Amino acid sequence: MTTNRTFTMIKPDATSKGHTGAILKMINEAGFRIAAMKMTYLSKEKAGEFYAVHKERPFYGELVEFMSRGPITAAIIEKENAVEDFRKLIGATNPAQAEEGTIRKLYAASIGENAVHGSDSDENAQIEGDFFFSKLEQF
Ligand code: RTP
Ligand code: MG
Repeated sequence: MTTNRTFTMIKPDATSKGHTGAILKMINEAGFRIAAMKMTYLSKEKAGEFYAVHKERPFYGELVEFMSRGPITAAIIEKENAVEDFRKLIGATNPAQAEEGTIRKLYAASIGENAVHGSDSDENAQIEGDFFFSKLEQF
C-alpha cells in the first residue's frame, strides 16, 4: 500500500455542536497526518459547485442549504490507503447504519446532517483538495 491523501470537511452541524476538536482527535489517532487545514465557509454557490455531482438528486437543494449554513473545517489528510480507511473511519452515510465507533455513529444526527465528508476516490480527493487549497497551502 502506498501513502496517499484524501479530503475531508467537518460539516456545519458538527461544527456548531462543538465537535470539531473531538473529530480531529479521532482523525489524528487513526494515523492520518494533516497536510492542509482551514476553518472556512461555503456560500450556496460554492456548496452547489462542490456537490455538483448530486445536482439531479432529490436531496441536492437541502444539501446545498445545509452545507452553507455555517462554518466548516476543510482538510487534506494523508496516510496509507487514505481514501478507503477514512471512509471506514467516518462510517455509513446514514448514521443509523454506521458502525459503532465511527465518526458518524458518534456525531451525526441524520442522513442529511452527517457531521463529516470523505472523498470517495483518489481522483476526487485530488479535485476536492484543490477546490479548497492552493498548491502552496498543501504540505
Ligand atoms: P459525503 O460525500 O458528504 O462524504 O457523503 P457520502 O459519500 O457518504 O454520501 P453521498 O451519497 O456522496 O451524499 C452526499 C451528502 O448528501 C447528503 N445526503 N442526503 N437526504 C438524503 O437522502 C441524503 N442523502 C445524501 C449527506 O449530507 C451526504 O453526506
Ligand atoms: Mg460522497
